[in-house]
Amino acid sequence: MKVLVVGSGGREHALCWKIAQSSLVGEVFCAPGNGGIASDAVCVDIGSNDIPGLTKFVKDNGIGLTVVGPEAPLAAGIVDAFRSERLPIFGPDMRASRLEGSKAFAKEMMRRAAVPTARFRVFTEAGAARSFITGADSPLVIKADGLAAGKGVIVTSSKEEALSALDEIMVSRAFGEAGASVVVEERLEGEEASFIAICDGEHIVPLASSQDHKPAFDNDRGPNTGGMGAYSPAPVLDQAACEQVMEKVLYPLVRVLQQEGIIYRGVLYAGLMMTENGPYVLEFNARMGDPETQPLLMRLKSDMVPLLAETAQGGSIRDRELSWQEGPSVCVVMASGGYPGGYEKGRVIEGLGDAENIPGVKVFHAGTRLADGRMVTSGGRVLGVTALGENLPQTIDKAYAAVSRISFEGAHFRKDIGHKALKRLP
Ligand code: AMP
Ligand code: GLY
Repeated sequence: MKVLVVGSGGREHALCWKIAQSSLVGEVFCAPGNGGIASDAVCVDIGSNDIPGLTKFVKDNGIGLTVVGPEAPLAAGIVDAFRSERLPIFGPDMRASRLEGSKAFAKEMMRRAAVPTARFRVFTEAGAARSFITGADSPLVIKADGLAAGKGVIVTSSKEEALSALDEIMVSRAFGEAGASVVVEERLEGEEASFIAICDGEHIVPLASSQDHKPAFDNDRGPNTGGMGAYSPAPVLDQAACEQVMEKVLYPLVRVLQQEGIIYRGVLYAGLMMTENGPYVLEFNARMGDPETQPLLMRLKSDMVPLLAETAQGGSIRDRELSWQEGPSVCVVMASGGYPGGYEKGRVIEGLGDAENIPGVKVFHAGTRLADGRMVTSGGRVLGVTALGENLPQTIDKAYAAVSRISFEGAHFRKDIGHKALKRLP
């Protein structure tokens, strides 16, 4: 079978790399891909939001399965377009992907399914939101309702901050139309973790637990990014907590969606806050995490293609299981200097081969491009240097040993990836 992966980041590189190992797969294509993906898949120059272009490519080339990486094409209806032409595609359709695309919708579904989540109110009018904030007696988080590239959430510590966050989102429209309505919710305390699962509309197969590192600098300081590193498993999300998430979050949610006439087929990603009262949902995503996918797929022993194909075709994944390497994996993101603010592109990257000579290391590319035979930077997050090992201290060391062999001007990375998990070791 031929498979097409849609997207161009580190997550899509990991997907191409893993899918290419399947005995069911002859050839993997990636649209549009990047400089590094080109060594694991055939990159085709079609943008990830060009739905007619992608549809035509899939028909012309006899692609048997399309796997969508990022959220934007899902929200734009790529799955609906493919299904109307009977082209197998893995991902939730437009209505289902509102779980990520509208925070107000996600909160409403959670309320109906009694999913543990922060108490909230939705406002479409700034005056009403202002009076609510003024009368609130605990710290608040202000969220733009719509997609804002992970940036439309402001965590506040005082009423003044909350009111100015509201103005930024709703009045100045810092995130455009995403801020036409806002979710105001209570601020939760705890450690964050990611729980990612595959759902066929009824049954759910969980992936291993993982944890992202969103802030730009060590010790979770600085502005939020798309994610500066990740590891799996996340000790904070132990077996009991995972079972709780399946029973109290994912299954009830999928049933409530069914009542709405939404058959959720694709990745269901719960961003969790591990509170004193157990796991609470901060958000849902309709796709795999980036960078969580990189360490997750390094640890995945099973072929994931049967699960993706079955789900895409509307089949059942009941009783399917995935098996994982016992040891952990750690991914350190190397970013361009200045990211998540402005940064330079086109810096030559050296040492990639040396890094991958370390056994158990794979470098997943995010913002890279081949220029005259050299790999150069072309985005904010550039590489996800990922190691698989026997135990956490050794795996962290291995990932950083690989990072130290790679260089490009201005390279920036966090030096504390995995430290939260280290603190939890017995
Ligand atoms: P979201 O996109 O909703 O996950 O929010 C982005 C980030 O904002 C999360 O990863 C958390 O760090 C933070 N956040 C969101 N909601 C809350 C909340 N209710 N309490 C505390 N932090 C939050
Ligand atoms: N790593 C966070 C996300 O993919 O949303």
